[in-house]
Amino acid sequence: MSAGAVGRAHTRLEGPEKVSGTARYAVEYPLDDVTYGWAVPTAAVRGRITRLDSEPALAVPGVVAVLHHGNAPRLSPDVDPELYLLQEPAVHYRGQFVALVVAESIEAAREGARHVRIDYDTEPHSTVLTADHPGLYRPEKVNPGYPTDTAEGDFDAAFAASEVRVDVTYRTPAYHNNPMEPHATTAQWRDGRLLVHDSNQGSTAVQAALAELFGLPRDAVRVVSEHVGGGFGSKGYPKAAVVLAALAARQVGRPVRLALTRQQIFGPVGYRTPTIQRVRLGADADGRIAAVCHDAISQTSRLTEFAEQTAVYTRSMYAAPHRRTTHRLVRLDVPTPFWMRAPGECPGAYALESAMDELAAACGIDPVELRIRNEPDIDPDQGHPFTSRNLVACLTEGARRFGWADRNPRPCARREGRWMIGTGVAGSSYPARARASAATATAFPDGGYLVRINATDIGTGARTALWQVAADALDTPPERVRILIGDSDLPPAGVAGGSMGTSSWSWAVMRACQELRDQLSHHSGALPAEGLTVEAHTADEIRAQRPMARYAYGAQFAEVRVDADTGEVRVSRLLGVFAVGRVVNPTTARSQLIGGMTMGMSMALHEEGVLDERYGDWVNHDLATYHIPACADVERVEAYWVPEEDPDLNPAGVKGLGEIGIVGTAAAIASAVRHATGVRVRDLPIRLDKLIGVSGVA
Ligand code: MOS
Repeated sequence: MSAGAVGRAHTRLEGPEKVSGTARYAVEYPLDDVTYGWAVPTAAVRGRITRLDSEPALAVPGVVAVLHHGNAPRLSPDVDPELYLLQEPAVHYRGQFVALVVAESIEAAREGARHVRIDYDTEPHSTVLTADHPGLYRPEKVNPGYPTDTAEGDFDAAFAASEVRVDVTYRTPAYHNNPMEPHATTAQWRDGRLLVHDSNQGSTAVQAALAELFGLPRDAVRVVSEHVGGGFGSKGYPKAAVVLAALAARQVGRPVRLALTRQQIFGPVGYRTPTIQRVRLGADADGRIAAVCHDAISQTSRLTEFAEQTAVYTRSMYAAPHRRTTHRLVRLDVPTPFWMRAPGECPGAYALESAMDELAAACGIDPVELRIRNEPDIDPDQGHPFTSRNLVACLTEGARRFGWADRNPRPCARREGRWMIGTGVAGSSYPARARASAATATAFPDGGYLVRINATDIGTGARTALWQVAADALDTPPERVRILIGDSDLPPAGVAGGSMGTSSWSWAVMRACQELRDQLSHHSGALPAEGLTVEAHTADEIRAQRPMARYAYGAQFAEVRVDADTGEVRVSRLLGVFAVGRVVNPTTARSQLIGGMTMGMSMALHEEGVLDERYGDWVNHDLATYHIPACADVERVEAYWVPEEDPDLNPAGVKGLGEIGIVGTAAAIASAVRHATGVRVRDLPIRLDKLIGVSGVA
């Protein structure tokens, strides 16, 4: 690579289209004869539909059809129980979509939905996760294929023999992904082929699922996802909206637009499972950890198993000869949990990094120093070398930038007027993986190039980053390169998820571009008018990778102030330093990192799905009652990165940075609150009522 586009700040290529409103999202493509869908969620929790009367809905002017289990087109039952929609009278959780009203206008569809009459036979339900739930079981593996439990050495003996012991339990509530754009689809059938414009994180996967569900060959399904307004994991796999829209479009023989409402995305399209996590750390008086154990409990649904990898973070983070991790699940009458930014690592790091702070306090050692003392030489889990591990560099650089050296370790030591002030730190890590992808590169006679890959830009700047990578791989000015993404007709590629978009896609793009240059160097005479095209696949190369530990790292620093009269917590400052391989585009990279950190602050102080067992559902189903930070809550957020060359990762040397920003943030804030007030909050979110009366707070 030599053109020098990689590493240079560049605003998003599609930015002008987005700010001028010409960028089309899934339900914004102009279409003749379009109809509108409105999904009908069930108010029952567990049972079956005994009667569904759609006549009153059909009587609403403009209503075209009401789909339900009695009349909807049939789907293949073997794809995913969550997507087997409108096929059976069974109700598995409150909010499950049991009907879809299709109408000439969105208003008529919504009005029609109010008039669908449903009777149920209901059964008792269980929807609350508890540590002693009788249904606790050990899953076969945890996402995305890790062993359920791990053990090395003799944890119990080493813990019992440790001079300093921490044995604490942390709880996190359910969290709901709230991308700006909800799950939304426009579906149309033409001559037996299905075309959908859909909001998702990877349309290759959506195409595959739709083909299976409807019993079609893959090439009879096209999924266009040119612009996507966020996902955070909730759109990492096809969900209800796209299936409902495709069913309805087939039924009514017209295009159907369906956007879930804000309220409807609280549950049926996935959420982060609540967790109960017991962490035990045994160390000597110098803070050298001898024994670490992390036992995680989370929930899944009765429909299908989703086993969040909550304790996996602890397997590779800090050294200790005696170590154990376990995962247990409960099947509840709830929608299936799903991915949310750094699934597993994020709640897991809240627990382990908080426990590290508790250990630092118990040993009287600075929490930055404690982490440095427990830095492993090789991956403590698998015994493999790290491709690169710059956690210590992140900690020391972060401490320098934050001004950590001036910190008085004593809690409640700093006070400015009514504000009690404290600081906290946490480590952060996230796997650096890549998924097999394909790409084509074409050279044209006029000196221009076209790169095609079914990557997805969910707002991250992926399109721009790939364009920069391609320009350098082609050794040409970026203006000569055009990049096409977001369409299942393009070469298949992995999802924008797991922080492996840029690593996976840039790999295929670079291979295609390098191969094209190679062919061009042997080419004599003019290029044909249609250009010279080469295609690259990375599956073999990824499979042949050496076994090594591949992770991104970070250090999170937080300063909070707590109102001594009211317990109000403000985050005055967040500062993160990250080791994420090569940074392709500093502008979009920074936006991912500060976005992740802000989401972590939201987790620490604001977000909480509050479940009411009587109704088997969360009581807060909108952004008025499910709190997230407003701009005024976000004061100073700084993200930096250390230089990192990592040739063992992938050709571009990138680690991905969509998730690392959220990992550890909540622990840094919780530890800062403890430093300010003396109170350790072990169940998120940190609300003022958890501080009032128990600390220096009034
Ligand atoms: Mo991310 S939760 O893997 O989209």
